[in-house]
Amino acid sequence: MKKKLIFSGIRATGRLHLGNYLGMVKGMLQLQEDEKYQLLFSVVDIHAMTTPYDKDKLSQQTYDVVLDYLACGLDPEKSLLLVQSKVGDLHAELAFYFSTVMTVARMQHLPTFKEKIKQHPDNVTMALLNYPVLMAADILVYHSELVPVGIDQEPHLEVTREVARKMNSLYGLDFPEPVRFATKGGKVPSLVGEGKMSKSVGGSFINLTDDLETIEKRLASAPTDSGKGEIVPISGGVANLLTFVELFQGEGRRKKYEELYLGEGIRYGDLKNELAEAIYAELKPIQEKRAELEKNPDYVRQVIDAGAKKAREIASKTLKEVKERMGLV
Ligand code: TYM
Repeated sequence: MKKKLIFSGIRATGRLHLGNYLGMVKGMLQLQEDEKYQLLFSVVDIHAMTTPYDKDKLSQQTYDVVLDYLACGLDPEKSLLLVQSKVGDLHAELAFYFSTVMTVARMQHLPTFKEKIKQHPDNVTMALLNYPVLMAADILVYHSELVPVGIDQEPHLEVTREVARKMNSLYGLDFPEPVRFATKGGKVPSLVGEGKMSKSVGGSFINLTDDLETIEKRLASAPTDSGKGEIVPISGGVANLLTFVELFQGEGRRKKYEELYLGEGIRYGDLKNELAEAIYAELKPIQEKRAELEKNPDYVRQVIDAGAKKAREIASKTLKEVKERMGLV
């Protein structure tokens, strides 16, 4: 049986945080166990260039994500690891063809674009505008039908489906219309108030490489209240903490805290200590494996090269077909 390819990626903007882990990596690991699929775990380093970046740090940031992926359980016997720029010629070429069917107006209206131009008003580049089209190329060049990503990526998947529909109807291609593979942590909240955990919001995240002390410190700054009330909050700091409790300690523990909130009150010091330990218990084996991998750069290089070679074979076939259908050859 021919396995179906599943592609997903993380930008090379530093180490992974709990949002990346719960929203994306865990979904990939779940699918990795399914015989029907072959996974492509990608570090999308070209996407990291769409907002201001440091050229002297990019390759180290890419390598850090590679190590995090392997440490989390990406199994090179089953799955492929892909550094996007290793096949950047093919992904970027396909993105260019895709850009012929998408209008500037459509791209300018995307909420993700609007958010980014607010963060970087002096860097509203063509690369940024084209970000989702490159993402569509990443996914469709491998005909990936399922994409494990967090909820924040939905607008980009919508663009991907639109590109697929247009390419199929205009050029008789057979791209799938990919859907999100959801995990329980599709929207991991920020540690500091509203919004989601994000690399670009200082204090909002816990990295996979954080030790217990750092996790405790980060949780300590999460806002709380008096610990009791008539209604359990559904947004804000306390609601976010309860979400973390559910994700790392289970629904039962969350219910227990909800009862305390409505009754004698929650002692947040205890909650945060317990939660920090539960998070660290999940991260500790990942950190141990990462430390092993750090000692073995030759092995890591080999995994990167093998993934690039296999991805190139697959992507070349798609490019050949697209070029023929679009009248280029
Ligand atoms: P990036 O690097 O912003 O995030 C990587 C993955 O982590 C998820 N994520 C979250 N999930 C839940 N809660 C959060 N707080 C949280 N923060 C981040 C993101 O949803 C994402 O799945 N555009 C992508 C990279 C990309 C890509 C692709 C993904 C490029 N090409 C092709 C899939 C397929 C991005 O910016 O990810």
